[in-house]
Amino acid sequence: MSLSTKDLLGIKSMTADEIKLILDTALTFKDVSERDIKKVPALRGKTVINLFYEASTRTRTSFELAGKRLSADVINISTSTSSVVKGETLLDTARNIEAMKCDMIIVRHSCSGAPEYLSKRLKSSVINAGDGFHEHPTQALLDMFTIREKLGKLEGLTVAIVGDIMHSRVARSNIYGLIAMGAKVRVCGPPTMIPPGLECMGAQVYYDMDKAVEGADVVMMLRLQLERQAAGLFPGVREYARLFGLNQQRLSGAAKHALVMHPGPMNRGVEISSEVADNTPVILEQVTNGVAVRMAVMFLLSGGTKAEA
Ligand code: CP
Repeated sequence: MSLSTKDLLGIKSMTADEIKLILDTALTFKDVSERDIKKVPALRGKTVINLFYEASTRTRTSFELAGKRLSADVINISTSTSSVVKGETLLDTARNIEAMKCDMIIVRHSCSGAPEYLSKRLKSSVINAGDGFHEHPTQALLDMFTIREKLGKLEGLTVAIVGDIMHSRVARSNIYGLIAMGAKVRVCGPPTMIPPGLECMGAQVYYDMDKAVEGADVVMMLRLQLERQAAGLFPGVREYARLFGLNQQRLSGAAKHALVMHPGPMNRGVEISSEVADNTPVILEQVTNGVAVRMAVMFLLSGGTKAEA
């Protein structure tokens, strides 16, 4: 089985079988990063472009490593040193990149829908590396991979996602993916950061963090987007930390085996205490797994099958 689509734009349109295919394929690729020689020839001769219009540490680096470990040629374009600063449009930039015969473009952009817009106009595969408030599909895939690896399954688990749900593309992709895979999803945050329609997506909404965390198998904390503080969405950082920050005492209400997750970057002392952050290995394991998951996505979009991985 392979992926039938050219692009990976979001989790919303994916079936449980497609998600499972990516997670199973990533399991095979995880082993590559454990070897002395961290390379397989799966994408030899292919060219991959990282086109990031927003800052990134984890996603950009892991896409680059994933491509290189698959033997692709990988080029990073930093928009701040590209002709984007001279006013070149997104489409013109992408068309010029494609004119150099690339096979795959990985896009992060502040506008929701930018990767989809490109995917309809380019022959190359387009992978969404995070677009506006819309989706961050590979983050959700690596999160699901990590949960499945640590707890053995996704079906039937209770996952509490806490924080600025409104502006979080990570939350949106995880809600779609976890529900498709049979998990129960609780979302929690201040009322000003909970968008309408979450119940229609299948999530349960909480405004009290202790209740949201109670008995949860996974507590997924989101970054408080401090750049939005001026918008008056909450009274202050201290108040936010008191009501929606994860500390050891609050975590004690979750299941004994509960995983604490965070997509990064973390605001220590705001959404997560340093004590909690430093006592869970899972947050860095998410980052490790991101390379394997992105290898699987790139491989499957290139026409590879799980049997060939
Ligand atoms: N999780 C995540 O997307 O991190 P970066 O912004 O560093 O890529």
